[in-house]
Amino acid sequence: MLVNFLILVILLVLTIGAGWLALRALRAKRLWVKIAGGLGAGLLTLALAGVAFLGGKGFVLAYFPGEQAAPDLRVAGTPEQIARGDYLVNLSCIGCHSAVGQDGNPSGEHPLSGGWNMAEGEGFGFIGAMIAENLTPGGKLATYSDGELFRVIRAGISKDGRRLGIMGLMASTELSDEDTQAIIAYLRSLPPVENSARTGDYMNFVGLLMNGAGMFGTPAKYVASIDAPPQGVSAAYGKYVATFGDCRGCHGSDMTGAPASSVSAAVPNPRPLVSSMTLEQFVSTMRSGVKPSGDPFPVTMPWQNASKMTDDDLAALYTYLTTQP
Ligand code: HEC
Ligand code: HEC
Repeated sequence: MLVNFLILVILLVLTIGAGWLALRALRAKRLWVKIAGGLGAGLLTLALAGVAFLGGKGFVLAYFPGEQAAPDLRVAGTPEQIARGDYLVNLSCIGCHSAVGQDGNPSGEHPLSGGWNMAEGEGFGFIGAMIAENLTPGGKLATYSDGELFRVIRAGISKDGRRLGIMGLMASTELSDEDTQAIIAYLRSLPPVENSARTGDYMNFVGLLMNGAGMFGTPAKYVASIDAPPQGVSAAYGKYVATFGDCRGCHGSDMTGAPASSVSAAVPNPRPLVSSMTLEQFVSTMRSGVKPSGDPFPVTMPWQNASKMTDDDLAALYTYLTTQP
């Protein structure tokens, strides 16, 4: 934050300096100095002012998101909550928050001790490091209250009130209150594992600039209370499955595909293919990672998440994907 603040101050000083030069040139006696100097310094002033404005906007968005206080919450941690949290966390969070394996990617297995630099791993390291947290009680979360942890999952706001680059864009911001509490209960029940790796969000000034320009999409607004649709094999619940299963994060909010963005490649609309399959074919595709045509999913499609879903949740997902959005 300090470095970004200094860059912002330097930019403002440079903008003022260039503006002053432009004024000086305009007041010059010789005409060519007036025109060339005024135009050159004027354009430079405009360019610097634009960069300073976007950087400043990104700065405010990241460090002063103006969100409401963390809720006053105590999660009971019943066996039912822990079991539900186990299911949800092992479908989604584990894909990023598991310890880093030999190949530099999250292993997808316990412990959830974090340390994966997602920005670097996914090819957008130029906006700074974004490193998944240790989610076991052996890490930073031991110092978070249940309400503060709830606010991270619901709105991507850290304990100290900053907007987190990745977590604020996650599908977990749409989980019901009950499921969010179940996740907290489960994380608190894990055996503590320590990890000395650096974790957290270190967005640099380039990231702030892009953020200020709105290139990362709109982060979730804090919604105080969310209910899930009734559990069952319905399109409505299937959409909720696509939420906690993280499908909508990649395939677009209506699961009709997502265009390429500054930080990710385009993702196709899965509905035509799924609509051409029977429920049995869909379930077997999602459990094996191989489509009915015999083609396996590439690594960019994390079918392993779906492979851990219950039969009923896969059936609901199928119903949702074969129903017009
Ligand atoms: C796509 C990868 C990804 C997934 C999936 C994911 N996270 Fe994260 N998480 C991150 C990254 C990266 C950070 C580092 C902060 C940032 O940049 O947002 C992080 C940070 C956190 C933090 C620390 C926040 C802080 O205050 O510093 C918590 C808590 C957390 N995640 C919980 C979860 C939970 C619970 C889930 C599942 C519901 C989850 N995450 C799913 C990538 C992910
Ligand atoms: C990290 C991003 C990501 C997530 C999360 C994700 N997908 Fe995908 N998915 C992709 C990409 C990329 C492809 C295209 C792969 C290719 O090139 O064949 C794809 C392809 C598919 C296809 C095949 C489409 C076709 O016509 O070949 C289906 C079906 C599908 N995804 C369903 C799902 C479901 C269901 C979920 C949630 C359980 C999900 N995806 C989660 C990125 C993702």
